[in-house]
Amino acid sequence: MTSYLAPAKINLSLRVQNKVREDGYHNVDILMAPIDLYDQLDFHNSRTTTLLCETPGVPTDESNLVFKAIREFEKAYGRKAKQRITLTKRIPHGAGLGGGSSDAAITLQAVNEILGTNYDLAELSTMAAQLGSDVPYFLTPTICRCQGRGEIVTPVPELAGWSSPFVLLKPAFGVSTPSAYKGLTCSRRLKGVSYGPQKVDNITLINELERPVFAKFPILAHMKHWLLEQPGTRAALMSGSGSTLFALTETPEQARDIATRALQELDPTLFTHCGIVNPQAKTE
Ligand code: C5P
Repeated sequence: MTSYLAPAKINLSLRVQNKVREDGYHNVDILMAPIDLYDQLDFHNSRTTTLLCETPGVPTDESNLVFKAIREFEKAYGRKAKQRITLTKRIPHGAGLGGGSSDAAITLQAVNEILGTNYDLAELSTMAAQLGSDVPYFLTPTICRCQGRGEIVTPVPELAGWSSPFVLLKPAFGVSTPSAYKGLTCSRRLKGVSYGPQKVDNITLINELERPVFAKFPILAHMKHWLLEQPGTRAALMSGSGSTLFALTETPEQARDIATRALQELDPTLFTHCGIVNPQAKTE
């Protein structure tokens, strides 16, 4: 058996052009950062490919991105990959944390290693882009700028050593990514809600999907403002298309205190996670 960890991401910045491209996507300019929240994937050689996952609501058939990654890999390989894969989900679904995309990217990397096919990053990236706009990012999960529809990934060396404590809050409901993008054309800003850029160190945090998503789910705007008021919060933002909100804090203790208070003051059913953004930060 070979085990792999698939990290989640947060979007430190997400800018999006309102105009829809001919292929139905939007051009984006994203600053993506990995966090220390992981799904686990265990691979065993087998006679056929099967996927096991005990988390309720996660499909284990061909509709799962892990399965789609295997099929995409097999197209290039010209043979069957034949893996029994056990997926342990810790990254919530519909959260804007990239869980499914990360699982798919790690699957491509895993079968490439296990089968000794030696596809290089560019070849894996081409397969990954077929699976979803965020999937290529997870082949190099350091702090990266993602452009085009998200598939053009460039590491940001100036931020390789940057890290920060953070807390995540995710309500029980998720947000569908297509509906978030669709809302760009018709949604308005909510009165009194701050959408503007926030500065932490030399990073400008902003998420232009907050406008359509907050218009549909005003509770998320309320949660963002609550986070902004907490002691120790340096910035608070929605991640991706939501429904996760995150705050960067000065210390890990402040992040833990915010998570505890959120469960008491906002909603006892929230998913919370405290950790480090860019956990592999190379400190010189
Ligand atoms: O690429 P992915 O499958 O993750 O995208 C899901 C949906 O999100 C797309 O079908 C599209 O509606 C929307 N999207 C977009 N522009 C992007 C990324 C996603 O409009 N850059």
